[in-house]
Amino acid sequence: MTTLAQYLNDHTTNSALSDVITTITDVGKTISQLLRKGALADILGEAGNQNIQGEEQKKLDVLANDLLLDALAQNPHCAGVASEELDDAIPAHTDGSLLVLFDPLDGSSNIDINMAVGTIFSILPYQHQGQTSENSDFLQAGNQQLAAGYLLYGTSTMLALTIADNVVMFSLDPDSGDYVLVQNNVQIDADTSEYSINSSNYRYWRAPMQQYIDELIAGETGVRGRDFNTRWVAAMVGDVHRILCRGGLFTYPFDTKYANKAGKLRLMYEANPMSLLIERAGGDATDAVNRILDIAPTDIHQRVPVVLGSKNEVNYVKDLHLQHANK
Ligand code: AHG
Ligand code: MN
Ligand code: MN
Repeated sequence: MTTLAQYLNDHTTNSALSDVITTITDVGKTISQLLRKGALADILGEAGNQNIQGEEQKKLDVLANDLLLDALAQNPHCAGVASEELDDAIPAHTDGSLLVLFDPLDGSSNIDINMAVGTIFSILPYQHQGQTSENSDFLQAGNQQLAAGYLLYGTSTMLALTIADNVVMFSLDPDSGDYVLVQNNVQIDADTSEYSINSSNYRYWRAPMQQYIDELIAGETGVRGRDFNTRWVAAMVGDVHRILCRGGLFTYPFDTKYANKAGKLRLMYEANPMSLLIERAGGDATDAVNRILDIAPTDIHQRVPVVLGSKNEVNYVKDLHLQHANK
């Protein structure tokens, strides 16, 4: 039995990184306990305000955000934090070597209906030790991430993590309070027959995405010659977890639903950490044209179209976009 503490000890010499991951995953235990109590812990419902992106905050969005902020502010290795729920990044310890980015509560619409939610995190190096960190310090491409992962609060609480070349999964043992390694070296099959998309946005998509979904729905009667199956958790953490477990394609594509949003998902808090996990597990992650991990961010809250999962299927989507661009 390997605990997270042992795993970190054996797989990284960067003690600051281990320490920050431990802080985040310890907060995950607290969030997990609150979710177990649900309404009894008064964590359900609206917070009554909006975040920087104009989204209504739930009580648990705010609570999870504050718990992570407070814990990371006390970690001397943390030079600053950026969160989906904060207007600007918050500086922490000037001598810290790490920047932490997070989506404190992913899948907010699932909170009040007792469905899966999660916490997504990304850790970047801090280049200006000795100075106070600023928003601009966080604007590093996803390929610079030192670690990334998520906590999935589902029927059990699980942690998916990548700190070296591979992706590993832990289950939180509610008796001992330890994260215990349950899967080493997670790998995704290149082919799949399962896909995730919110089809209610069909009329807002670009032509190649509409064509792709038309082809999947046609199944064995269409050009793909086989049937496909849909799953949509409404929490990216849940969909990505399923893909790490049994393959699949997840997309929240470019759409024209809201002016000046390139897609719904956020590059720094959602797309980058998930793309690192997916790529390290042998999958692919793109905005339909470019590799997500190579996008140079210009704003900590920027949005990006996301297509990720089983390699051959992601490439199929990319090819359709290329064909349409060359028409
Ligand atoms: P968040 O709860 O952090 O705002 O993220 C929700 C995201 C993502 O997790 C999920 O895949 C998607 O939004 C669901 O969007 P729809 O409500 O449009 O289905
Ligand atoms: Mn989210
Ligand atoms: Mn969120």
